[in-house]
Amino acid sequence: MKWLHYLDIYDRYLSAYRDLPVRFLEIGVADGGSFNVWRPYFGDRAVLYGIDISDSSIDKVNALGIGCHGRVGSQADPEFLASVVSEMGGLDIVVDDGSHIAEHQLASFRTLFPLLSDGGLYICEDLHTSYWDDWQGGLRRPGTFIEVVKDIIDCLHKWYYPIDNAMVDMDLHTKVPAVHVHDSMVVIEKAKVDPPVMLIK
Ligand SMILES: C[S@@+](CC[C@H](N)C(=O)[O-])C[C@H]1O[C@@H](n2cnc3c(N)ncnc32)[C@H](O)[C@@H]1O
Repeated sequence: MKWLHYLDIYDRYLSAYRDLPVRFLEIGVADGGSFNVWRPYFGDRAVLYGIDISDSSIDKVNALGIGCHGRVGSQADPEFLASVVSEMGGLDIVVDDGSHIAEHQLASFRTLFPLLSDGGLYICEDLHTSYWDDWQGGLRRPGTFIEVVKDIIDCLHKWYYPIDNAMVDMDLHTKVPAVHVHDSMVVIEKAKVDPPVMLIK
């Protein structure tokens, strides 16, 4: 899904990466149409990859003729994801627009976030599905990606309180300077975070 309000959100976070040799991975490519936007947006130097479980979707990406690379596999398969990142030569931006199934979103985040470069972004979209039964969703239902994001927000504050939750093993307080939550989209920044220093009490 791509909703109209996503465009401003994308531009807000992605404009800083334009015309750079950014390594970009989109999870879920459908008919490959988004790459007709990503290529002119990021420019010729960007390394653009897409993954999908559908052979025909990947065939369409590879047939676009604009230097985008599609690979067939599941976002829930850590070995596959790691092999794609290795082929890409690293990873700066992820957009998860794949199955929108909570377990898959979490598996991708757990595999790909550690592989992101410092200064990179992890974007997961269509988070309204976290509330929908057909996507293993529900209000405050444990395990949805919205609940994972809430856990991540708690983890950022581990400097101040002994946070203990399902995400604490990733040491995100040292790796995530900011989490930006929008309607249906979260943007998680990756960069080294130093322990906080109190200036005035
Ligand atoms: C919403 S569409 C992607 C739309 C595309 N990003 C765009 O903007 O045009 C979701 C895609 O995710 C793919 N998908 C579903 N389950 C997947 C999985 N486990 N791993 C990777 N891709 C998956 C589907 O085949 C489908 O092509």
